[in-house]
Amino acid sequence: MELGQVVDFYDRHPINEGQILDTRVSFVGGDAVRLPFRTASFTACLSQEALLHVPDKAGALAECARVLIPGGRLAFTDWVAGPRLSPGERRRLNEWMAAAGVESLEGYKRLLTRAGFGAIEVEDLSDWWRRILRERLQMYRGLKAETVARFGQARYDEYDQLYAFFVGLVEAGKLGGGRFSATRGG
Ligand SMILES: C[S@@+](CC[C@H](N)C(=O)[O-])C[C@H]1O[C@@H](n2cnc3c(N)ncnc32)[C@H](O)[C@@H]1O
Repeated sequence: MELGQVVDFYDRHPINEGQILDTRVSFVGGDAVRLPFRTASFTACLSQEALLHVPDKAGALAECARVLIPGGRLAFTDWVAGPRLSPGERRRLNEWMAAAGVESLEGYKRLLTRAGFGAIEVEDLSDWWRRILRERLQMYRGLKAETVARFGQARYDEYDQLYAFFVGLVEAGKLGGGRFSATRGG
């Protein structure tokens, strides 16, 4: 999907009638470890499958704590590593998907505590993700003829190999998903 299509959808979506979103939503580019916002300026902080790309997770969580008011809530989803994820597999995830660091469920709990968060809730989404990714791999393979016609056999093979590797890690319990929420201490 082109960016223009997303904007078009946003403009025409019923929720934006009367410019509701125009007055409540703005987009600001920035680095997660140096958020361009004032201290204690938000009641909630959300992230979806982005922290895996940030090597300094302690720094990113410290920034979330900084910009939240005391009692503000942080919620995020991310990939999580199982104990058997090997250094070689981590390297390949980094080279292929820019997964600069994959944390474990327990590791995230420790990092959140150290960053000053309490009331930490952790949900393991791995079973759910496994089903979704298995279906997605089948869907991509079902589109083989069209994909090869459009991008060529070599590109199809390269992507299929890498995606199968990724899904294989999830099938083997070496990689999964987690949903986290936590409250910034006072
Ligand atoms: C897998 S995408 C997820 C995007 C979106 N949250 C979603 O679920 O569709 C990962 C996102 O992380 C962002 N990202 C990676 N490193 C970042 C950093 N250091 N600071 C801020 N964002 C970063 C990328 O720009 C990208 O938009």
